[in-house]
Amino acid sequence: MGKFIEEWKKSHGAGELRPAHVGETVVLMGWVDAVRDHGGTLFLDLRDRSGIVQLVCEESELGAEGFSVAGGMHQEYVVAARGKVRVRAGKPNPNLSTGEVEVLVTDAELLGRSQPMPFAVAEEVDANETTRLKYRFLDLRRPPLQRAMILRSKAAAMVRRHFESEGFIEFETPILTKSTPEGARDYLVPSRVQQGSFYALPQSPQLFKQLLQVAGFERYYQICRCFRDEDLRADRQPEFTQIDVEMSFVAPDDIMATGGRMLARVFKELKGIDVPSPIPRISYDEAIARYGVDNPDVRFGMELCDLTDRVRGSAFKVFSDVAAAGGAVVGLAVPGGATWSRKDMDGLTEFVKTYGAGGLAWLKKADGAVSGPLAKFVDPALEAGLAEAGFGDGALALVVADKDARVAHTAAGRLRNHAAAKAGLVKPGTYGFVWVTDFPMFDRDAETGRLVAMHHPFTSPRPEDLDLLESEPLRVKARAYDVVVNGQEVGGGSIRIHDQGVQSRVFKALGIGEDEARAKFGFLLSALSYGAPPHGGIAFGFDRLCAILTGSESIRDVIAFPKTTRAACLMTDAPSEIDPAQLAELGLARKPGG
Ligand code: AMO
Ligand code: AMP
Repeated sequence: MGKFIEEWKKSHGAGELRPAHVGETVVLMGWVDAVRDHGGTLFLDLRDRSGIVQLVCEESELGAEGFSVAGGMHQEYVVAARGKVRVRAGKPNPNLSTGEVEVLVTDAELLGRSQPMPFAVAEEVDANETTRLKYRFLDLRRPPLQRAMILRSKAAAMVRRHFESEGFIEFETPILTKSTPEGARDYLVPSRVQQGSFYALPQSPQLFKQLLQVAGFERYYQICRCFRDEDLRADRQPEFTQIDVEMSFVAPDDIMATGGRMLARVFKELKGIDVPSPIPRISYDEAIARYGVDNPDVRFGMELCDLTDRVRGSAFKVFSDVAAAGGAVVGLAVPGGATWSRKDMDGLTEFVKTYGAGGLAWLKKADGAVSGPLAKFVDPALEAGLAEAGFGDGALALVVADKDARVAHTAAGRLRNHAAAKAGLVKPGTYGFVWVTDFPMFDRDAETGRLVAMHHPFTSPRPEDLDLLESEPLRVKARAYDVVVNGQEVGGGSIRIHDQGVQSRVFKALGIGEDEARAKFGFLLSALSYGAPPHGGIAFGFDRLCAILTGSESIRDVIAFPKTTRAACLMTDAPSEIDPAQLAELGLARKPGG
């Protein structure tokens, strides 16, 4: 063993060989994808990250010893082979980029053996995700994951080139730091040197990037890891990557234009997708009214219709009661939905219930006649409202009512996406980009009743709303914007407060007292008092962008070593118990029974 590695270098990627290489002697190294024994001739499919090529092993070429080495090969063994490229003796294989050629092997060497595999290295596997995550290093050999990782690397390089070309400076900001409030729980790291004290892992580099503006760098970017202890879903990981950007002397338009240029470049160069320029914008209020949610999927119509005023006099008490109680009654029409079954309707009802709605009312129209539980309550007012929602022949009308208007909008908005997908209205390969602007500055926490920042506490209110900060804080709009692609929030940012006085007023509105503000963000308040330029920025969810670019369902598919929804790494077994001695060294003890 060793002669190939010492003496010969890999000359080509397996997937690179073409008819133009015929006659060349090549050295290939990679994994055995498949072995076929055709009575004295051994075919090995050799795979590396570039693709697969067929190797032909015959005793007359390899000699007895070499041929027995080839004969001992199994799937996923690591092999080196030297040989001559020739036109395939058999039929070309149209499924392989190398399908017109093969390599007649003259020397072969085994570089590594493999145990039987827990699952095949194939385009698709039926192994469950637990097994795949446990053997992530093997799952990563599969072509879809190889493609995803390579695309991710290309996207990161492109993002760097883009921001460098626009005069941005890349920074690295601390990972062991202090809490940055982005609405999630912090991951904490105990200090050994200062026992009883903890670092927080950054939820984002928010404050550092602002300080770099005070420091005068004007254009900052970083592709950085962020850590958030929150409920995990397909589009959320406990550690994820942001493309983080901050600029001085800018207005929202400048940030949106800068972000739009970056997106346009990445989508065009990697996928040939044209991002509209400029990306259309809608206000938060309009997004809620038309789509029920602040991350609208604009690839299809089916806009919502607010029926609240039209059902005040309705004989259907669910509706009239909700309207009287100040809630919202929201409807939508699904073209073609009239054919959906009772079971489908039960499924949709269960679906809206997961968003807190009490139920779902529906109505079908076929050949001009309406049917369904709502049919007997259709009066001219409701009919006019549903007509506005586009309720025509063959359609299904769906109506959600709730005393909490937010619940009605959210449930109807999510239902809109769900029903559109079910009706086949979301065309694969289409992309819908939109900026959502003018977010409310604050939201009321349902549990504590306290105001919380909708984006984060450093976001600037709109100047015209400053007077409302103390009197009617919920009416204050922020200079904040999100960019949404196919119904997913892929980026969000804002113009920041650069005035210490305004920052203090916002802290106060949030119930953060002066002492607490000084303890938590004293360094920021201090910085704002030393000539802070007007500034603002944005952060894009890099994993989400990569998932959209690769057409992946989950961001797990574009992260090399992702975690489960319980924030565990099944491969390394993190998080894991630690040695009591290590705890003692940190001055920590486990609660008995904990
Ligand atoms: P925000 O909290 O909106 O803003 O985050 C920016 C973007 O990061 C992505 N993202 C996530 N991706 C995967 N897993 C997660 N758990 C996760 N959480 C967020 C989303 C989101 O749009 N400091 C501000 C930015 C700024 O104001 O400049 C911030 O972090 O795509
Ligand atoms: P119930 O009174 O629960 O039997 O519901 C009577 C009808 O009203 C059924 O068709 C329900 O699906 C519908 N319904 C109940 N609650 C709501 C709601 N919050 N929004 C819309 N429709 C509802």
